[in-house]
Amino acid sequence: MHTSVCSLIVIIICVIVLLNSFPASSDKGDESLILGCGLGEGGGKDVDGRQWVPDNKYFSGGNSTTSKASFQDPSLSSEVPYMTSRVFTSESSYKFPIQPDKRYWLRLHFYPSVYGNFNPSNSYFSVVANGVTLLSNFSASITCQALSQAYIDREYSLAPLDSDTLTVTFKPSDKYKRAFAFINGIQLIQMPGLFESATMVGYAGQTIDTTTMHFQTMFRLNVGGQYISPMHDSSLSRMWYDDTPYLYGAATGVTNQATKDVQINYKTMPQYIAPPVVYSTSRSMGTNKDVNMGFNLTWVFQIDPNSMYLTRLHFCDYYYSKVNQIVFNIFINNQTAEAQADVIGWTGGKGVPTYKDYVVYVQGDPGADQLWLALHPAPDTKPEYYDAILNGVEVFKLNDTNLSGPNPQPSEMLMEHEEKAKGFHDTRYTRRTFVIGGAAGGAAGFVLVAAIFAFVHRQKKKKAPGSYTNTSSWLPLYGNSHTSTKSSKGGSGKSVTAMAQGLCRYFSLEEMKHATKNFDESNVIGVGGFGKVYKGVIDNGFKVAIKKSNPQSEQGVDEFQTEIEMLSKLRHKHLVSLIGFCEEDGEMCLVYDYMAHGTLREHVYKGNKPLDTLTWKQRLEICIGAARGLHYLHTGAKYTIIHRDVKTTNILLDENWVAKVSDFGLSKTGPNMNNGHVSTVVKGSFGYLDPEYFRRQQLTEKSDVYSFGVVLFEVLCARPVLNPNLQREQVSLADWALYNKRRGTLEDIIDPNLKGKINPESLKKFADAAEKCLSDHGLDRPSMNDLLWNLEFSLNLQENPNSSTHHPNHEESEFEEVSLENDDMAAHYKNLGLGSAQQVSQDENTAAIFSQIVDPTGR
Ligand SMILES: *[C@@H]1O[C@H](CO)[C@@H](O)[C@H](O)[C@H]1NC(C)=O
Ligand SMILES: *[C@@H]1O[C@H](CO)[C@@H](O)[C@H](O)[C@H]1NC(C)=O
Ligand SMILES: *[C@@H]1O[C@H](CO)[C@@H](O)[C@H](O)[C@H]1NC(C)=O
Ligand SMILES: *[C@@H]1O[C@H](CO)[C@@H](O)[C@H](O)[C@H]1NC(C)=O
Ligand SMILES: *[C@@H]1O[C@H](CO)[C@@H](O)[C@H](O)[C@H]1NC(C)=O
Ligand SMILES: *[C@@H]1O[C@H](CO)[C@@H](O)[C@H](O)[C@H]1NC(C)=O
Repeated sequence: MHTSVCSLIVIIICVIVLLNSFPASSDKGDESLILGCGLGEGGGKDVDGRQWVPDNKYFSGGNSTTSKASFQDPSLSSEVPYMTSRVFTSESSYKFPIQPDKRYWLRLHFYPSVYGNFNPSNSYFSVVANGVTLLSNFSASITCQALSQAYIDREYSLAPLDSDTLTVTFKPSDKYKRAFAFINGIQLIQMPGLFESATMVGYAGQTIDTTTMHFQTMFRLNVGGQYISPMHDSSLSRMWYDDTPYLYGAATGVTNQATKDVQINYKTMPQYIAPPVVYSTSRSMGTNKDVNMGFNLTWVFQIDPNSMYLTRLHFCDYYYSKVNQIVFNIFINNQTAEAQADVIGWTGGKGVPTYKDYVVYVQGDPGADQLWLALHPAPDTKPEYYDAILNGVEVFKLNDTNLSGPNPQPSEMLMEHEEKAKGFHDTRYTRRTFVIGGAAGGAAGFVLVAAIFAFVHRQKKKKAPGSYTNTSSWLPLYGNSHTSTKSSKGGSGKSVTAMAQGLCRYFSLEEMKHATKNFDESNVIGVGGFGKVYKGVIDNGFKVAIKKSNPQSEQGVDEFQTEIEMLSKLRHKHLVSLIGFCEEDGEMCLVYDYMAHGTLREHVYKGNKPLDTLTWKQRLEICIGAARGLHYLHTGAKYTIIHRDVKTTNILLDENWVAKVSDFGLSKTGPNMNNGHVSTVVKGSFGYLDPEYFRRQQLTEKSDVYSFGVVLFEVLCARPVLNPNLQREQVSLADWALYNKRRGTLEDIIDPNLKGKINPESLKKFADAAEKCLSDHGLDRPSMNDLLWNLEFSLNLQENPNSSTHHPNHEESEFEEVSLENDDMAAHYKNLGLGSAQQVSQDENTAAIFSQIVDPTGR
């Protein structure tokens, strides 16, 4: 019943979406080809409802076969076009009719899976389009591995080719035996003249004509906003991603969104430049003048050196309307691209968008594989506000003959784990699981590396074939290029690839001392297995939490570095993020976001007493946020990440009460890790432990779901998960809550502060969901996605009690298997934000505590 109503709604929504967006894309559609390579007659539709047609009509010779992928990676956003491919064993071409004087987008889609007898690790090939090299010695498999994603889409913009045929040639490498080429999807779309001339950075006043250059799209970001799907682009079916993963350091500014009454007024600028959604969100520095003067709002992009790049910046100011209100400098790769940029000065008014193009040549110096974009207030003209603003960024690589670059290099750590995993059974094409998290019993805990090793080790011993979790390793990277290993500045000479990524900031010990008043005891806000956690202030006013290693800590340098490498890549609105680290004179520090409102637990109850603080709606929103964070861990990257220590003290709250999951295995190393004995010890926190994990010692993401179920009851009942002072049947919250739920007496044990304030339907939905989470068998528990959906439903029932009539049958507590709208986005590596980052206020809030407090009753 539920399911059918919901599917109906989904269908209606789809129809509306299709009706709204199809006319726009098919206007240009007369010239566009969307080919699903290897698709049978009739083609197929992708998740957006776009029709992909078979490719045979355009295939013009060479030896090829069509084949279906042997495995569907769960992170594939759509079966079409990825699950079918054309495999080329000799040089082969497609021929497409084109207009000689038009620019075209050419999009190539690759999903490196096993196709029949073809293993993608043998696939090296080049792709040439009318003499322009797009790819050479390309390995889709290595590229995807390095970027930690299942599939890769490449977008090129080809300048007019002076020919009425576009020949795209795939050629297997002759350097490798058994090399072959393959392709899953091709899009060819005639495009308007998007590019003209661009300012040359570093050559005062000079411009370069880009109309004859070929482009490869490297990055396209909706700054301060959310992922925009091809269907929601302004008729060019581009994808725009969230910019947060590319932000550098702690100083990420604030995001802004135009109010509903603001109309983006394109004036003479064509709307295809960028859709209104891009212009109606932005990122600026914040309201504090002194703070803003102390930092650059910076994005860092991984690129191939020795090449020319065009950076297109999109601007639109919808708050201010006068010249000289906000004036700022724009730096690209540390050179001034624009001095005294004034958006209103350029556009002449509020809500009017514009864009600026800058070209830089990036030399091949060692380490020059990054493009830095930085904004800083320009005080010279005495503007009203010391601020800077940006709405969108696109980065393109330019060349007139050769756009190819080397394959990125997967992290050594990743390779090592893959090797180990391969030792006992081939997990390459199954979803990998990586375990993070977890101190147990207050003292014994272990780091994530230990966890992988232990887990791999154990599986090796047991030779458990085809067990549910195939652990090798995990490493979500973003960026589009190399991740080669480099030495960290001032470090021990050991390599930290996160540094090379530029996403994780390096702090000197001096800066750490300065931030914490020389590690003054008065700044200690917590103590964890790793050492003490200090409150600190950096960059003139950014609050951070600094974890300093205890010299006695068993956590070694390698683990420390592995943690940095891994954690720096986890960025999500609902995960606490690592801002940077310090490693100097044997001292090691990790620097995190500061969470002004401390832990969830301290807002639900203190000791054994419920507090009259959070409303039911707030609690639901916090649970939904935390569930999103966990959902991202479980499915957002190519590799499943299991938190392993989900509990209310690991769910932190920022100044806006946004929930963030924390503690990704920063506890100290377990005693016998090197002997692999740790695996026999079940880790986690008592009271939250999955009984199935306990029994079978087999960890799956459903163990997190179990623990999260306990969190849900804890939030509802406002009592500790274990309370030895109570009668025996009441000691464990999980048991007691289930017992009452089944007897229909749950209302008797809920937080007295909530009594009479929860809509009964909302409570029922919530309790059903929590009960499902506590199912004995992992298979019976919902996925985080299903759970999320049910929690949102519960929130909806609380907020709009009357709208529940469309959902008539409340008797069954069945779990609707409905995908969230965001699901396919979540699956994509670049889109690390399931929700958009809301406006972050820089409100002061002193009552604050950071996470890793060892709570004797909690652990
Ligand atoms: C196709 O493969 C066969 C051998 O398998 C080879 O003799 C032939 O030349 C190839 N055809 C083309 C067009 O490359
Ligand atoms: C074009 O690519 C070639 C080969 O990668 C490189 O040598 C050349 O410098 C590039 N030209 C420009 C203008 O970037
Ligand atoms: C720009 O400057 C920063 C430090 O201010 C440095 O870390 C970075 O490597 C520089 N980038 C380039 C491309 O020179
Ligand atoms: C901002 O970036 C520019 C260019 O890299 C640099 O010269 C300047 O020192 C930076 N300012 C701050 C406060 O970091
Ligand atoms: C294109 O550039 C790549 C990388 O710079 C190089 O390896 C390759 O040989 C070049 N191909 C051609 C045809 O120039
Ligand atoms: C081709 O790519 C592989 C993997 O990145 C690399 O090891 C190899 O050196 C490359 N070969 C050539 C000829 O560039």
